[in-house]
Amino acid sequence: MPRAGVLTGGGDSPGINAALRSIVRFGDRHGVDVVGFQEGWRGPIENLARPLTPIDVSGLLHIGGTILSSSRTNPYRTDGGPERVIETLKVNAIDFLIAIGGDDTLGVAHRLAGEGVRAIGIPQTIDNDIGMTDYTLGFSSALAAITDALDRLHTTAASHHRVLILEVMGRDAGWLSLMGGVAGGADVILIPEQDFDVDAIFRKIKRREHLKKRFSIVIIAEGAKPEGVNGQVVEEAEVDAFGHARLGGVGQYVANELSERMRIPVRVTNLAYLQRGGSPSPFDRILATRFGAAAIEFALDGRSDVMTAIHGTKIVPVPLGEALANPRPVDENLLYLVNLFE
Ligand code: F6P
Repeated sequence: MPRAGVLTGGGDSPGINAALRSIVRFGDRHGVDVVGFQEGWRGPIENLARPLTPIDVSGLLHIGGTILSSSRTNPYRTDGGPERVIETLKVNAIDFLIAIGGDDTLGVAHRLAGEGVRAIGIPQTIDNDIGMTDYTLGFSSALAAITDALDRLHTTAASHHRVLILEVMGRDAGWLSLMGGVAGGADVILIPEQDFDVDAIFRKIKRREHLKKRFSIVIIAEGAKPEGVNGQVVEEAEVDAFGHARLGGVGQYVANELSERMRIPVRVTNLAYLQRGGSPSPFDRILATRFGAAAIEFALDGRSDVMTAIHGTKIVPVPLGEALANPRPVDENLLYLVNLFE
């Protein structure tokens, strides 16, 4: 009987549990035993293994987070990391490993594939920034949370005639900010792909005032940068095992700058983990179910070093290395949405 290993790494997002459920149930139908490794790549480094049977994944479809836990452990920054992963896979008689995560987690899977591990990736990040797939798992759910937050901010902004800023995630890609901003009717949309000018934002808010619009909502991605400033605004400069500093605070930066110009306080809401938690959207439940089944199917077809991807309505295998070498900023043909109503 073939044996699959599975792990979930990096930031969680809604839909991971639904993918685990699909891997185990579809695997079971096709005679594949599944072993879960806990806490991202720490699992196979330290042999934190547990069997995953259909009953273990029962009732998970609508539950956010990951029952396997996650971490940002990088085997390539751990003493003997890759060798220990390979040894654990051997000890557990794993034929192929399914890694669910963003570019960091999938990057490790790709490197291990280069060392002979049979690896399949499932792209999962709310940022939607992985190449060669139309969507990543989790994006749709986060978008729903952001849209809901903007709806709520609107009522307060309108009642108090305020300028309110919503900071959302999106390290290098503005999908969440742009699509959230369009869905939630934000008046100013700021994304990492386009450096912003606070004076231009101020002028836009003033123009709205002339049109008798007495409130404005700004949505900003954590990775957006002011023009002429080098580097992103970070909350903690210390980097994680994949070399990333924790971003955060650019919303407050814009608020301070605008407050000075407007002579009234501009307030910020950082949606932080509220956009990553909770139940997956219907789209993510379906995507997770299809990605999970496809991961098993691709492995049984003898593929390795590939990622499940959605192209239109089709789920297809794409080379992991190529997907990772082409991270996906907002499509150029969608950038007009930033200024659609100006
Ligand atoms: O899930 C990806 C992401 O949302 C990035 O946009 C963000 O910078 C990062 O996770 C923050 O996650 P954590 O606080 O868990 O490190």
